[in-house]
Amino acid sequence: MTEKLIIHGGKALRGEVEISSAKNSVLKLMAAALLTGDSVELRNVPHLSDVAVMTQVLKYLGCDVDQQDDDRLYIQARNITSHEAPYDLVRKMRASFDVLGSLLGRFGEARVALPGGCSIGKRSVDLHVKGLIALGAEVEINHGYVEAKATKLVGTEILLDTPSVGATENIMLAATMAEGSTILSNAAQEPEIMDLANFLNAMGADISGAGTNELVINGVKPGSLHGTTYSVMPDRIEAATYLMAAAGTRGEITVNNVLPVHLSSLTHKLMEMGADIEMPTPNSLHLRCDGRLQAQNIVTQPYPGFPTDLQAPFMTLLTISEGVSIVKETIYENRFKQVGELKRMGADISVERDVAVITGVEHLSGAEVNAHDLRAGAAMVIAGIQAKDTTVVYDLHHLDRGYENLVEKLQGIGADIHRVPDDTERPVVEEAV
Ligand code: EPZ
Repeated sequence: MTEKLIIHGGKALRGEVEISSAKNSVLKLMAAALLTGDSVELRNVPHLSDVAVMTQVLKYLGCDVDQQDDDRLYIQARNITSHEAPYDLVRKMRASFDVLGSLLGRFGEARVALPGGCSIGKRSVDLHVKGLIALGAEVEINHGYVEAKATKLVGTEILLDTPSVGATENIMLAATMAEGSTILSNAAQEPEIMDLANFLNAMGADISGAGTNELVINGVKPGSLHGTTYSVMPDRIEAATYLMAAAGTRGEITVNNVLPVHLSSLTHKLMEMGADIEMPTPNSLHLRCDGRLQAQNIVTQPYPGFPTDLQAPFMTLLTISEGVSIVKETIYENRFKQVGELKRMGADISVERDVAVITGVEHLSGAEVNAHDLRAGAAMVIAGIQAKDTTVVYDLHHLDRGYENLVEKLQGIGADIHRVPDDTERPVVEEAV
């Protein structure tokens, strides 16, 4: 049976939230574990449906994967039986496309379904493919699959047209097993790239420059990567979601298990809007918000700019801020899905192509709304918590992809939110975000 959220809004959030580890890192670390036949232990692995899908992908390839209740995940890719990731799995979750670089790097061949477009934009994989070809792979696209082969990968200089997170990862994974050095310029600088590089280095790789726009990947000998134990980095997007939820209710919370520097683009904006933010310890952030937030403009950018993944929840805050705000989405073509739902809750938003103009209203009012994708869903939860009266959020499978124990964590800081069975007839649409 599907479920829905019932939120009675208008209560200030107060208390502490423990942030889980990063979905957008752990999925890539799981793909990277394919590079060795040894057992790899990942720690602090969040219980998310996306982790379950990546587990299915790895098992399909022949890996042993075992997630313990205590958040440890063991992966061993000793007896790989297939080099193919089928469409049925890749369409569920785009991140599974990262097995391409690992399979090609370790086995010299891979057949991975094209993820296709998705609800937030076209999301091409041309840069992944160009990078692998530059490393010496022969790549063909047949019947909706990327088929890559290489008797030998050779390091080279690669300049990405745009700092794609996924392309940077796939190239890193393959180049780790190439002969010689690869210099990857205009690389993505997201913290998750650094986590992947640190993990690969712990397995015996030789990668430097992660976190800057130029990576140097010195290839290692076949079979030389080994098992390791690694703790996944904190989820900066999850932490940001709770900070925004509290700010909109004029609340006061502390988020623990965060790396504050990863949240700078958000915390600077929130402080300019009137929130008071401090760093009580190197791994926590404290937010207090006493009055109405002021309008603010944002433009989404690759890291360290304002993250596209926070655009929708941040827009929810702007709907009740004082004044007129402008939001420009530069990463995806179709990432304003929250707008229609926010307007149903009383928000004043107009959209012209990639720009939304938001005129703050005093308050939102509860309504029945859909979580159209993961982050648009987070925007709806924040809206419901801020709004007067009752909000019902449907399509929770999107939220389950990226927010561990969302309801329990929000209840822990005083939100009146419950997950209940939904017996309304509703089609479930799977989208590979
Ligand atoms: C990652 O997606 C994240 N997903 C996304 O988070 C995030 O929005 C995105 O990075 C940007 O930060 C995961 O890590 C699993 P990209 P990814 O390659 O790697 C274009 C969430 O909500 N592009 O940096 O797919 C592409 O079309 C998700 O957690 C090409 O043109 O992002 C897009 O417009 C959603 N050609 C832009 O670059 C390519 O070959 C950024 O894509 C590759 C990308």
